[in-house]
Amino acid sequence: MNTQTTPEKPASLSKRPTGFMAVDTETASAIEPATMIEMDAFSAWYGDFQALDNLDLEIPEKRVTAFIGPSGCGKSTLLKWINRMNDVIPTAHAAGHLCLPDIDILSRTTDVVALRRRIGMVFQKPNPFPKSIYDNIAFGPRLHYTGLRRSDLDNLVEWSLKKAALWDEVKDRLNQSALGLSGGQQQRLCIARAISIGPEILLMDEPCSALDPASTSRIEDLIFELRKQYTIVIVTHNMQQAARCSDQTAFFFEGRIIEAGPTRELFTRPREKQTEDYVTGKFG
Ligand SMILES: Nc1ncnc2c1ncn2[C@@H]1O[C@H](COP(=O)(O)OP(=O)(O)OP(=O)(O)O)[C@@H](O)[C@H]1O
Ligand SMILES: [Mg+2]
Repeated sequence: MNTQTTPEKPASLSKRPTGFMAVDTETASAIEPATMIEMDAFSAWYGDFQALDNLDLEIPEKRVTAFIGPSGCGKSTLLKWINRMNDVIPTAHAAGHLCLPDIDILSRTTDVVALRRRIGMVFQKPNPFPKSIYDNIAFGPRLHYTGLRRSDLDNLVEWSLKKAALWDEVKDRLNQSALGLSGGQQQRLCIARAISIGPEILLMDEPCSALDPASTSRIEDLIFELRKQYTIVIVTHNMQQAARCSDQTAFFFEGRIIEAGPTRELFTRPREKQTEDYVTGKFG
């Protein structure tokens, strides 16, 4: 990976208000949330191909932010830059600022393992390890934290599965293979695995697209619950889902953010014609 960052972090990176007023959440307070992830003139390329162009966006803490936009517009690329997954792609390089309040994500000196401990990732297709349910959840904590006792791990596994609303369904078969779970259960297992390492941020790339409506609804309920504790970014092609479970939405098109703002406003009173056409299903 190649990063070309400007030398110093912007002064704005103390946790400052995002400008997005919290809307429609059970937990919303009148106080504007602080910024958890900040982009300033952030661009990214694969070789000569520019996948992201000059993004300015502030992602608020303990809120749900939805990324929407047609296929190929760069949503997954941005998620992958946030936790430096693009490090494994030799042609991937970036410029501008992409920061947490106390970490310049793009810096060559950033401790990527420490960064990823703060960021959980959930993918489109549930991807449990071919291990027991217990070992799937215990995997991350065993990797990241030394000296955990069995009782600590037991507690952590139970806590994570309860948080992901899966405990009651699996508590009597923790030693059975995770591959025996249904798709919806596997996705909740992946969410439990993501939160078991104690992240602050959850990145979800189309987490429901492989699920039936009942499982989708469970995951959406879960996102609603988890927003109290985590900063969540969800990529979705499902406009109803973005409208139902996010506080703010960013609409991407051809590598640029066309419009971002409180979800209700973006869906009911979009400023840009392109946004209106997309959210009303005229293209994409
Ligand atoms: N590893 C890669 N090497 C080269 N180009 C890539 C790579 N990954 C993605 N791209 C290109 O970058 C652009 C953005 O891709 P990305 O996967 O971020 O889109 P997306 O918005 O997530 O699309 P979708 O909704 O289909 O998942 C596309 O043109 C894609 O072909
Ligand atoms: Mg994608």
